[in-house]
Amino acid sequence: MRKIHVIGIGAGDPEQLTLQAVRAMRDTEVFFLVGKGEEKDDLVALRRGMLAAHRPDGAYRVVEARDPERDRGAEGARYPGAVDAWRARRAEIFARLIGDELGPDGTGAFLVWGDPALYDSTIAVLEEVLGRGGAAFDYDVVPGVSSVSSLAARHRIGLNRVARPFQVTTGRRLADEGFPEGVDDVVVMLDARQAFLRFVDDGNDGDGLGLHIYWGAYLGTPDEILVSGPLSEAAPRIQRLRAEARARKGWIMDTYLLRRSIADTGAPGDG
Ligand SMILES: C[S@@+](CC[C@H](N)C(=O)[O-])C[C@H]1O[C@@H](n2cnc3c(N)ncnc32)[C@H](O)[C@@H]1O
Repeated sequence: MRKIHVIGIGAGDPEQLTLQAVRAMRDTEVFFLVGKGEEKDDLVALRRGMLAAHRPDGAYRVVEARDPERDRGAEGARYPGAVDAWRARRAEIFARLIGDELGPDGTGAFLVWGDPALYDSTIAVLEEVLGRGGAAFDYDVVPGVSSVSSLAARHRIGLNRVARPFQVTTGRRLADEGFPEGVDDVVVMLDARQAFLRFVDDGNDGDGLGLHIYWGAYLGTPDEILVSGPLSEAAPRIQRLRAEARARKGWIMDTYLLRRSIADTGAPGDG
């Protein structure tokens, strides 16, 4: 039976690769690198560097494929449908890669950015491929250091306050729905539109929410940028740095925590 490893490789720093990930990489014959857009070259280069470092034997193949284009304009009710259609096209590509490139007992791997469990469709797409009943295979998942863990580590913060929940959401949702109810700490990913700006308009750190932002771009890479502070002070700086970096590199990946001020009481370790 064919075997697939879904390997989380960390979110930019090659030293975030776990020993488990290295072991899975050493067990792999064919690596599938699925990339997209302008960031493709940089991110593919990072993966190739990892392979060179951890597979000095060179006894593997790399097969690159291009991600299908997604309907980025789809909003509101059309958005889930656009994602489903994109996932279905991805499933066709994955099925072809696995069927064409792996022998009946071959082992392949997808090197997944960050942690495969967080805003990544590799697992769902593989399930879709299996559901269609094409090439049979077994797969396992190796967790990776996510950009969220990196963000917290680089700012030297915890994500939750004592015994409180935190939420991870997208820029799209934050922009559309505002600060979520019932949480004081919100991690925002996939934010092409700087959704945090909606909370600075009143010059009051978010309608009196007293928001603090911890922002990080290109975390773990030589281009890393970190900014933190009260939102109204930090926002213009982030806007400027973000625009400059985006113009320089042609793409940007950023993540941030919005933290509402609350009295944080409780014994250390309760959180
Ligand atoms: C498709 S999601 C993939 C997340 C990934 N699975 C993870 O565990 O971090 C891409 C989003 O992750 C965040 N991201 C990934 N790598 C990052 C990095 N090195 N620095 C800042 N944000 C990053 C950004 O919010 C980006 O829009």
